[in-house]
Amino acid sequence: MRGSPMSRRAVHRFRQFARFAVGSVKIKLLLGFCIFFALILLVDRASSFTRWKRHQNFVDPSDSHRKGYTLLINTWKRNDLLKKSISHYAACPRLDSVHIVWSEPDPPSDFLVHYLEDVIQENCKSWQQIQLKFDINKEDSLNNRFKEIEDLKTEVVFSIDDDVIFPCSSVELAFSVWQSAPDTMVGFVPRMHWLDQTMTNVDYYVYGGWWSVWWTGTYSMVLSKAAFFHRKYLEMYTNDMPASIRDYIAHNRNCEDIAMSFLIANATGTPPIWVKGKIFEIGSTGISSLGGHTEKRTQCVNRFVAEFGKMPLVSTSMKVVDSRSSWFW
Ligand SMILES: *[C@@H]1O[C@H](CO)[C@@H](O)[C@H](O)[C@H]1NC(C)=O
Repeated sequence: MRGSPMSRRAVHRFRQFARFAVGSVKIKLLLGFCIFFALILLVDRASSFTRWKRHQNFVDPSDSHRKGYTLLINTWKRNDLLKKSISHYAACPRLDSVHIVWSEPDPPSDFLVHYLEDVIQENCKSWQQIQLKFDINKEDSLNNRFKEIEDLKTEVVFSIDDDVIFPCSSVELAFSVWQSAPDTMVGFVPRMHWLDQTMTNVDYYVYGGWWSVWWTGTYSMVLSKAAFFHRKYLEMYTNDMPASIRDYIAHNRNCEDIAMSFLIANATGTPPIWVKGKIFEIGSTGISSLGGHTEKRTQCVNRFVAEFGKMPLVSTSMKVVDSRSSWFW
């Protein structure tokens, strides 16, 4: 018996419905699998991401070969400049820690310490926590700035005065130059010396400031007011260099930077490296603007030559520039 057209249609409908229902179950199943796998993928990604983040965050503090540098900043009763400098450098990419050489009679105020901690926190762009430390000195001596630092976490310091600021791009360039030549002093402020030809019977040297460097294109020192150098030189300055040199510097309140240049040149037998950097002077009075500066520096050079028993400084005319910012080629 054949069914009526009515029942046949009903059967057809039922089949259609059944096919649709099965199809929808398949789709649901497929969708379910998709979501499931997506979730698994996400969880995996998330865990590897947090693992990576954790790795970035918690670098072993005992690892002395950390890949950044320590800002070694010398300051004296100029908290406004200190705040400006530190808030600037905190934003530089490979800054690891900040050491402030403090030689004032009063210790830094809690207000200042908290202010600086906050400013570092706010401005720092790296994953890593930047450490802030004050190196508090009892006596006020220029030698304080090169004291050995026991708990230094990086191999290199970026020694800087509180009244000059260099853009992070310049600091980065100098840091990468230093990484290529880790025994060498790498800095932004070149100075020179030359042998005074009018003195025939003795070797008498003359200290040359910025204009001499500009005129001759030659230099033999970079000043520690803005330079990278290896931490071992701090130790050598404090422990190995003749105490008479440190005494002379403390007494004359000058030339600690020349002594550091002598020390490094004596140890390496090579010149320092001058890196071109944009300087912003934020303080107005420095000792270099006082009269009689060059004569005093010349005396220091000759005194140190006598102490070292030779002239260790080596002259060069090499200058490092960022090739991206040089105008032609
Ligand atoms: C200069 O270097 C020599 C050789 O490395 C070393 O023996 C001497 O002590 C150094 N002089 C000073 C004053 O550091």
